[in-house]
Amino acid sequence: MSSSQQPQHVERPASAPLPSQSRRRGAFHPLTVSAVRRLTPDAIEVAFDVPGELAHAYDYEPGQYIAIRTTLGEDVLRRSYSICQAPSPGELKVAIKRDLGGVFSGWALENLAPGMMLEVMSPEGRFVSQAAASGTAHCAAIAAGSGITPVLAVAQSVLAASEHNTFSLVYSNRTAIDTMFVDELADLKDRYPSRLALYHVLTRERRSSELLSGRLDGAKLAKILGTLVPVESVDEWFLCGPFELVQLCRDALGAWGVPADSIRYELFTTGEPGIPAPQRGRPIAVDPGEAVRTVSFRLDGTTSTATTAVHSQETILNAALRVRGDVPFACAGGVCGTCRAVLRAGTVDMVENYALEQEELDAGYVLTCQSIPTSDRVEVDYDT
Ligand SMILES: Cc1cc2nc3c(=O)[nH]c(=O)nc-3n(C[C@H](O)[C@H](O)[C@H](O)COP(=O)(O)OP(=O)(O)OC[C@H]3O[C@@H](n4cnc5c(N)ncnc54)[C@H](O)[C@@H]3O)c2cc1C
Ligand code: FES
Repeated sequence: MSSSQQPQHVERPASAPLPSQSRRRGAFHPLTVSAVRRLTPDAIEVAFDVPGELAHAYDYEPGQYIAIRTTLGEDVLRRSYSICQAPSPGELKVAIKRDLGGVFSGWALENLAPGMMLEVMSPEGRFVSQAAASGTAHCAAIAAGSGITPVLAVAQSVLAASEHNTFSLVYSNRTAIDTMFVDELADLKDRYPSRLALYHVLTRERRSSELLSGRLDGAKLAKILGTLVPVESVDEWFLCGPFELVQLCRDALGAWGVPADSIRYELFTTGEPGIPAPQRGRPIAVDPGEAVRTVSFRLDGTTSTATTAVHSQETILNAALRVRGDVPFACAGGVCGTCRAVLRAGTVDMVENYALEQEELDAGYVLTCQSIPTSDRVEVDYDT
């Protein structure tokens, strides 16, 4: 993950090998809500029925997320939600926590009910275990709040994958009543008493252990890593929670010498409020004679072209959405990676990047939701 306050100037390096393998890209299908269950006063679990003919489209790896597309009033919204259980045929479950002032989560908590139909994107994401397949892995996770959703799915499947896999989970919440999936975690502990180590941290309630009470700061984290979850015993790390916590944990693990490629993290937001999601094909006035740039993009084998006014500072994604509604994106905030494409020609400024790894940048990938063209012609490819 890299991020910068300054936009990152990107041009296709002449020597970069062009990625050629194709990947499954998220496609939307209408799915019926089969159940809605209250998890805490501010969170619900939503289950969808997956009909047999769509089973393949909704195969997923534990830790992946889906996006939900809804129209509320005049706005078409897309929001991502991590799948919160190990794969279960015919079913897909996510958990939605109310984000204070949040449009979709607020609506969902008040209105979602069984029988409703929502457009759901097929699963995406790379917050998945690579170590579990060894059969002797010790995986560890630090999760906070709704960050437990993908971690729960990962923990369930790592533990089920081999009787020699072990899992340590540090899970932070404000209070016990805010804690999502308390029962599911207790059940998992009952099922794997010697292989799951579970540490609930409460930031606004006292627990019997000082170490597990109060905010997870650098000092507390160092003690936890030194005692409860010895760093040297862990093969793979999973981090999911508020931006600052994920950064703190990444820094702490880095300082302990944990290699970056054994740390997986999922960000739900950039921690910067008020970054608006792109409006679909939002009209941008182009005065006659005004300078424009051309954006060509290949998607599902078809090449389309959009123009964008230089003054608009519009992203590739926004320009592309004006001519095709199926251009992939989910968070529009530079955190999920759904909108990534290979820059084939031209130059762009990438405003934020919390999703692409260095090797993807080296291979020419950009986040189209964050990339503003800086050359007269820009060409990107969503198909690689
Ligand atoms: C890969 C991924 C997985 C995710 N998984 C989950 C999950 O499992 N569970 C979960 O609950 N969430 C998850 N999220 C987060 C989720 O996608 C939504 O971002 C979240 O539910 C908030 O959406 P919303 O429409 O309610 O809030 P929004 O309306 O998008 O608002 C978000 C926040 O910004 C504030 N805000 C909005 N507009 C402004 C403004 N103009 N000025 C200042 N502040 C403003 C709101 O008050 C709110 O706090 C995930 C996100 C990603 C990227
Ligand atoms: S849509 Fe999530 S990073 Fe661009």
